[in-house]
Order: sequence, then structure tokens, then C-alpha cells
Amino acid sequence: MPSIKSLLSAFALAYLANATTIKITATSSNTFDPSTIKANDGDVLEFIFEPKNHSVVAGDYRYPCSPLELGTGFFSGFFATSSGENDKVFRVEINGTDTIPFYSSQGNECAGGMVGIINPKGNQTLDDYKKRASTLARSVSPGRTSFGGEIADNDSSSDNSTSGDGNGSSGGSGGSSSGKGGSSGSGSGSSGDSSSDKDGKDNGSVSLSISIGALALAFMMAI
Ligand SMILES: *[C@@H]1O[C@H](CO)[C@@H](O)[C@H](O)[C@H]1NC(C)=O
Ligand SMILES: *[C@@H]1O[C@H](CO)[C@@H](O)[C@H](O)[C@H]1NC(C)=O
Ligand SMILES: *[C@@H]1O[C@H](CO)[C@@H](O)[C@H](O)[C@H]1NC(C)=O
Ligand SMILES: *[C@@H]1O[C@H](CO)[C@@H](O)[C@H](O)[C@H]1NC(C)=O
Ligand SMILES: *[C@@H]1O[C@H](CO)[C@@H](O)[C@H](O)[C@H]1NC(C)=O
Ligand SMILES: *[C@@H]1O[C@H](CO)[C@@H](O)[C@H](O)[C@H]1NC(C)=O
Ligand SMILES: *[C@@H]1O[C@H](CO)[C@@H](O)[C@H](O)[C@H]1NC(C)=O
Repeated sequence: MPSIKSLLSAFALAYLANATTIKITATSSNTFDPSTIKANDGDVLEFIFEPKNHSVVAGDYRYPCSPLELGTGFFSGFFATSSGENDKVFRVEINGTDTIPFYSSQGNECAGGMVGIINPKGNQTLDDYKKRASTLARSVSPGRTSFGGEIADNDSSSDNSTSGDGNGSSGGSGGSSSGKGGSSGSGSGSSGDSSSDKDGKDNGSVSLSISIGALALAFMMAI
């Protein structure tokens, strides 16, 4: 009979294998591309920012261009870029399969159609949200600083990142403007150990689920 520990790591591995990173670009033509996202529990959305100056906010479906209740959802903060892509990205882990619209809170971009939706269901659709958004004069930014995700370097599959493990924290970055958000990845620590199933870890399922995001990141960086 397999030990609980090995079962757990099997689950963790299965989870990792299934978790994917979905890239979404906040484009220079003031749209999100793609704008309809099918995400599974544990997937990570990575927002990439083109000019000029956008944000992404998790919205309340009922009230377009308004954020979810304070303390829930996510807000990237503003990413200004004069050309190309901002060299920082905003990453958010998806928990569950709820329908979550999102929008840019810059100027009238939300009304102009810079909106998207995660896991639309039934009558909660992108078109419906967009249509109601288009009648609004302005959108709401939930504060000034980002929360609900982490700001990270846009590391393309870099050529020389593998060269040295020397300075740990390859993924550290999280240099977000303010540490406030409970960013999932903040644990950082040694990305090296995390993948090993051997060392006696805490036995709490809570810590397991919290570390999944960091694990997934570490895992992907290790490839
Ligand atoms: C980006 O937009 C925000 C919100 O309008 C503003 O506070 C910030 O100054 C802008 N950044 C730049 C570099 O224009
Ligand atoms: C959306 O669908 C739900 C049930 O699926 C229903 O209760 C609700 O009234 C519908 N809303 C609108 C605006 O049609
Ligand atoms: C999922 O949970 C993490 C950790 O609590 C949180 O940082 C993240 O914002 C949540 N994702 C969404 C879409 O709310
Ligand atoms: C961001 O990463 C993508 C690949 O993931 C790459 O094509 C793009 O050039 C990068 N942009 C910047 C500004 O580094
Ligand atoms: C890493 O890449 C940069 C540019 O791609 C290059 O200038 C630098 O020499 C590389 N460093 C190593 C250690 O390969
Ligand atoms: C690693 O740390 C050394 C000194 O501790 C520093 O000189 C070097 O630039 C660092 N390398 C990276 C990739 O951060
Ligand atoms: C959880 O860990 C604590 C100490 O870290 C230990 O006392 C406890 O027996 C463990 N519980 C289980 C179910 O393994």
C-alpha cells in the first residue's frame, strides 16, 4: 500500500502536469488577446502589456468596469510601455472555475471594449459584459497598488539563465511596487528543494495548495 506521502506527491505531480500558463496580451489597440479564457483550477494567467498604459482588474460581472469586492480578485496596477512589451508581466493563479470578467481600468478603455472573461458560463458571456460596459463613462481602479497576483520578469525562454544556479532565487523578482498583495509566489525560498518529495515537509494540505503555484513556477523554470 502506497504511503500517504507518495500519494501526495503523485497528486502534486499530476497537478503540476495539468497546470498551464495562459498568456494574455493587453494590446496596443486596447484589447485583451485572447479575451475569452478557458482556465482550469490551478492554471496561471500571465498578462503581458503593450503600449501605452493599461491595467487588468478582476471585475464584478453584475457591474461592468467595477472591481470585485475589496480583498478578492486581482489588480495588476498600471503598466506603462512606450514600445514593444513591458518587461514585467502580471501573473494570477486561478482558483476554481468561477466566471470572472476582467478589464483595463485605464481611462475609458473598459467602455471601449478592453475587457475579457474567464470561464464564461450560461448567460454570463463576454458579449453581454462588453455591451453593458460600453454604456459606461468610466471604470474603477481598486486602489493604487497591485494585489492578487505577482509581478514578474517577462523571461522569454532565455538563453543563458541555466548557466548559474549560483544566486538562487532565479524567479525571485516579485519586485512589485508594494509587497502588499499576498502574492502566492512570495514564498520563494530555495526553488531547488521544493520539487523533492523526500524531505519531511509540513503535513498540512493548506501549505500544499499554497505552494502549488510556487512549485509550478519553479518546475517550469527548471525545464
Ligand atoms: C499610467 O496610468 C496611470 C493611471 O491613469 C497613471 O497614474 C500613471 O501615471 C500612468 N503612467 C505613465 C507612465 O504614464
Ligand atoms: C441568467 O441565468 C440564470 C440561471 O441560469 C437566471 O437565473 C438569470 O435570471 C439569468 N440572467 C439574465 C440576465 O438573463
Ligand atoms: C487564487 O488564490 C491566490 C492565493 O490566495 C490569490 O493570490 C489569487 O489572487 C487567487 N486568484 C484569483 C483569480 O482570485
Ligand atoms: C517577452 O517574452 C516573450 C516570449 O515569452 C518574447 O517574445 C518577448 O520578446 C518578451 N518581451 C520582452 C520585452 O522581453
Ligand atoms: C546572457 O545573454 C546576454 C544577451 O543575450 C549576453 O550578453 C550574455 O553574455 C549572456 N551571459 C552568459 C553568461 O551567457
Ligand atoms: C550573483 O551574485 C554575485 C555576487 O553575489 C553577483 O556578482 C552576480 O552578478 C550575481 N548574478 C546574478 C545573475 O544575479
Ligand atoms: C503533522 O506534523 C506534526 C509536526 O510537524 C506532527 O506532530 C503531526 O503528527 C503531523 N500530523 C500528521 C497527520 O502527520
